[in-house]
Amino acid sequence: MPTRTATRKPRAPRKAKPPKDEPKDYVLRVERLVKVYPGPGNSPDIRAIDGIDLNVERGEIFGLLGPNGAGKTTTVGVCTTRVYPTSGHVQVDGVDVRKDPARVKLGIGVVTQFNTLDRLCTAWENLYFHCRYFEMSHREAKQRADELLQQFRLSERRKSFPDELSGGMAQRLQVARSIAHRPSVLFLDEPTAGLDPQSRIALWEIVSEMREHGITVVLTTHYMEEADQLCDRVAIIDHGKILVCDQPANLKKTLGAETVVHLHLEKPPDGLAGKLKRLSGVVSVDASSDGLRVLTKGGGIVLPKLVNAANKYGLTDVSVAEPTLETVFISLTGRELRE
Ligand SMILES: Nc1ncnc2c1ncn2[C@@H]1O[C@H](COP(=O)(O)OP(=O)(O)O)[C@@H](O)[C@H]1O
Ligand SMILES: [Mg+2]
Repeated sequence: MPTRTATRKPRAPRKAKPPKDEPKDYVLRVERLVKVYPGPGNSPDIRAIDGIDLNVERGEIFGLLGPNGAGKTTTVGVCTTRVYPTSGHVQVDGVDVRKDPARVKLGIGVVTQFNTLDRLCTAWENLYFHCRYFEMSHREAKQRADELLQQFRLSERRKSFPDELSGGMAQRLQVARSIAHRPSVLFLDEPTAGLDPQSRIALWEIVSEMREHGITVVLTTHYMEEADQLCDRVAIIDHGKILVCDQPANLKKTLGAETVVHLHLEKPPDGLAGKLKRLSGVVSVDASSDGLRVLTKGGGIVLPKLVNAANKYGLTDVSVAEPTLETVFISLTGRELRE
């Protein structure tokens, strides 16, 4: 199970919460959103988004966490005016995505799942022309491109073409370009998919820094670690529905468990689950691909009892970890988040 990486810098302080009675400043409002795609051939229609409600506060880093096919990209597609909704409402900074998509686009930055850099332009030109599209003067655009290269530690690669950049650098350049026109909300769709661990951490730092620039971030991910480390709040999405939405720590608290014990077994655990459930300190027992996953509380006292009981079933290994958002996902859906 992946654990926190020791090399990571401490994260930027999270957004200070406004007093309870102060009305919340939502920069993104999603209400009863539905998107149905026609099924291919004679297949039934696909309900990619099945009635989603979401509010994202200004200054938050908000995560949509879910497995492949959950509806994350479609949700971002509607919020960024690329996908026309079947029904429901989405407002970005008070502007309806259906009524005024052009105005919405002025206030958002988007990094899609795929590299959309202009391959015939250098790193600097990618930034410069983006600024010009957003009506900056030549001088202003030049200055902004320089400033962004520096901010994203790409100054030395100003003359490189996208194909000459590493995956991590290209992704940093995409993020730099997406905020060049100073949007109020930045949408990042699976920003670290396919990046090596070091580039992933570098990108996490950049995303955290968005707070200092007053940019709200909405990111999608299927990496529970990313959602946990980076996001102020996380909505877990599956089959086009939001299952839960809260701060990562609160989501984990709902499990009522302190530890996840994974018992790797050689034999089918028929009957064992029932036995374990009766032990004090055991919160729940679920089947996993190669044994049983047991949620426990009350310290280590229960572990020897679990091992004793499981020994008769060909126990080959035991792993012990803290609950993660993956544990939350499994407890909600009975499935694992990872493909
Ligand atoms: N353009 C499309 N046409 C038909 N079906 C689509 C289209 N885009 C997405 N889907 C389907 O909608 C569902 C949600 O997809 P998507 O939003 O891409 O999920 P995610 O980003 O969470 O992986 C999937 O079943 C996918 O196959
Ligand atoms: Mg996607």
